[in-house]
Amino acid sequence: MTESKIPAYNDGYNENGSDGIEEASDGYRFRKLSGRLMPPYVTPLRYAQSRDVQMRDSDISFCSFPKSGSTWLSQILLLLINGGANPDKGTLRQHMIWMEASWPFPKSLDVVDSMESPRLFKSHMPIEMALGGGPAKQAGKFIYIARNPKDVCVSYFHFETEKAWAGNFNCSWDHWFERFISGQVQRGSWFDHVVGWQREIPSNLLLLTYEDLLLKFDNTVVKIAEFLGIKLTKKMLRQIEKNSSFDRMRASEFANMHEVEQLGSFYRKGKIGSWKEHFSVSQNDRMDQLISEHLHHVAFDFTYETD
Ligand code: A3P
Repeated sequence: MTESKIPAYNDGYNENGSDGIEEASDGYRFRKLSGRLMPPYVTPLRYAQSRDVQMRDSDISFCSFPKSGSTWLSQILLLLINGGANPDKGTLRQHMIWMEASWPFPKSLDVVDSMESPRLFKSHMPIEMALGGGPAKQAGKFIYIARNPKDVCVSYFHFETEKAWAGNFNCSWDHWFERFISGQVQRGSWFDHVVGWQREIPSNLLLLTYEDLLLKFDNTVVKIAEFLGIKLTKKMLRQIEKNSSFDRMRASEFANMHEVEQLGSFYRKGKIGSWKEHFSVSQNDRMDQLISEHLHHVAFDFTYETD
């Protein structure tokens, strides 16, 4: 491991933002916080601020392991609180509060405290490092979305590869697979993340899966609306379906993330089962073994393939 200095990771709230960034021989860049690998832009100061935030009853915060459909969920939430249409101004990213991130969200706690309700918070933290201490300690509504680990592993491989601000991973799929199953990726172990978030389910926490959104869209959005206390008409539901569709989000200036350099195709496949294009038989066996060891009691019912 070598230390690298990357000024781009600095922000106004952490002058030493590039301190502590490590780079592995496969190119992977990260910093360690509380023993877990984190993206370089999750600086110690930003993380500390994210723990100090005071949630309001009207706040909505959603969390996931990366690549689990959080951007899709963020679009659905924004449409729900905005009557089915997108706001006239800004982009999807600009409507989200991402406390733990430095340059992707360069705003201080004071600014966040002065924002109007309802506020929409995004996070990718494990429960032990959750925003404000997590749902059991805070007001407001929390939603955690999980996706089957095989598709997450593949989606994350594409996302983290060869982007200076992300993982900058530049090695093989096989090597990535080993990183992923041993929890040596940004945000740590997928298994710990997902198992941790459903260990305690207070009444202000809703658990969802990406697969439910894909396969049971209407029921899942109705469930979200009920949880948030939002009145949902049939017309609004159809508008939300249209405005949050994969094709619409990928094509729209509002949601396509054109403002993030190097991002390329964030909207990659949007399907269940793209792991089959990458996993070898033995990788699949090993993942299945881990799934049976870790997931037998979890509250999530994952779907790994469709007909
Ligand atoms: P793939 O890489 O498998 O295509 P996150 O937002 O948590 O980073 O998750 C990204 C994943 O969600 C990507 O998966 C992306 O394509 C998928 N996704 C984003 N918007 C979607 C939508 N409207 N419908 C279905 N999948 C979507």
